[in-house]
Amino acid sequence: MAIDYQELIPNNVDLAGNRTLQRALEQWQPHFLDWWRELGPSDFQTADVYLRTATSVDAKGWATYGTLKMPDYRWGIFLADAVPDRRIGFGDEFGKPVWQQVPGEHRSTLRRLIVTQGDTEPASVEQQRLLGHTCPSLYDLRNLFQVNVEEGRHLWAMVYLLHAYFGRDGREEAEELLARHSGDRDKPRILGTFNEPISDWLSFYMFTYFTDRDGKFQLKSLAESAFDPLSRSCLFMLTEEAHHMFVGETGIARVVKRTLEVMKELGTEDPAALRHAGAIDLPTVQRYLNFWFSSSLDLFGAEVSSNAASYFATGIKGRPDEANFEDHICREGAFALEEPDGKGGTTTESVPLRNAMNEITRNAYIRDCDIGVKRWNRLIAKAGYSIELALPSPHFRRGIGAWARQPVDPAGRILASEEWQAKLPGWIPSEEDRAYIKSLMRHVIEPGRMAAWIAPPDRGINNLPVNYEYVHLN
Ligand SMILES: [Fe+2]
Ligand SMILES: [Fe+2]
Repeated sequence: MAIDYQELIPNNVDLAGNRTLQRALEQWQPHFLDWWRELGPSDFQTADVYLRTATSVDAKGWATYGTLKMPDYRWGIFLADAVPDRRIGFGDEFGKPVWQQVPGEHRSTLRRLIVTQGDTEPASVEQQRLLGHTCPSLYDLRNLFQVNVEEGRHLWAMVYLLHAYFGRDGREEAEELLARHSGDRDKPRILGTFNEPISDWLSFYMFTYFTDRDGKFQLKSLAESAFDPLSRSCLFMLTEEAHHMFVGETGIARVVKRTLEVMKELGTEDPAALRHAGAIDLPTVQRYLNFWFSSSLDLFGAEVSSNAASYFATGIKGRPDEANFEDHICREGAFALEEPDGKGGTTTESVPLRNAMNEITRNAYIRDCDIGVKRWNRLIAKAGYSIELALPSPHFRRGIGAWARQPVDPAGRILASEEWQAKLPGWIPSEEDRAYIKSLMRHVIEPGRMAAWIAPPDRGINNLPVNYEYVHLN
């Protein structure tokens, strides 16, 4: 179904055909706009921004580009096209028709999953609200705002499901999604990572590379859901999410590229000399990577999880790319899980497959993360250096699950607690690192100009030149 832009709320779900729902969402809309003005990108609400907007949900040409002020962005409700006769793809209900309504027995579980997913979307906008003040270029500023408006739209995607399928509880949850705020003492966001402000651009690229990628894998798992409206919502969100990870991957690549240029110019790898020249030395990039990768891993939950097992059994949440697996029932199989043995070594435990679904998803995520690392390393090798960036061990600095608070180093070795404590500051950004990165953050707003610590992108947005005025500040 085509997207109807004549409506107050653009949508492809025939909102006009359900007056009650339409009215409820039209009442929520001004609350959303108030939230956006108050906690969206600070001080840029009157800027003209070159943004893309969804116009159809098919693979080709879903986006149209134009210049607009962010509060005028057409946030709406877009579901991927329905698959005729879609069947449940995994678990005990395998092969039965998918659900167009929420089965009573799964109501609270589904609502909790949707609320948790929905909560992360506005949280990230809140975390990033001050970043515009220190943008390294107009190109980057525009990308930040594109990510922000789309996270706002992802909130709409979840709020639609709450309003349309969960009655009064759903409407209350939709209000709460605007009442909790990132870092708020009394009403924080649900997940810890989403309560930390993102106040520098290196962290923003790491967040969009690692944390948005967690989002990608959560959405992929929910896109498998037997609850068809959730599946179709998440499928379309994934097409938007791809751009967020592109911003992260190319952002980090451009930092590395610039650093390599300065290394060449100065003929040194010495971090102090590179910092003196205003570049971000690669060991600092590695420490930021260690930090963001390890905290994003926790978002997948514990390795052994009875919740994950029941989501799979009931058809609520599958594995990413479920069709690629051979066994969709998983009643028999086992998963070999490496755990600490409590004596400084490891032991392998056999876990029923269904209980290991979080770990299976986390492993798929790790493989996906590694693709970018390989690309960054190719840049370094091509410049003639033997330094390599690497993902730390998935057991490093974990806060959740079997490896929580274990003294594991980035290479995966278990150390004595004291040694680990002493070495940890060298593995993650120190106060000094953070202060240095912060000192680099300046407002660069001349079209085509880049901050000294980052290379220009290879190309602009939508075939426009890099020096296009992507944001016009008023
Ligand atoms: Fe999102
Ligand atoms: Fe995202």
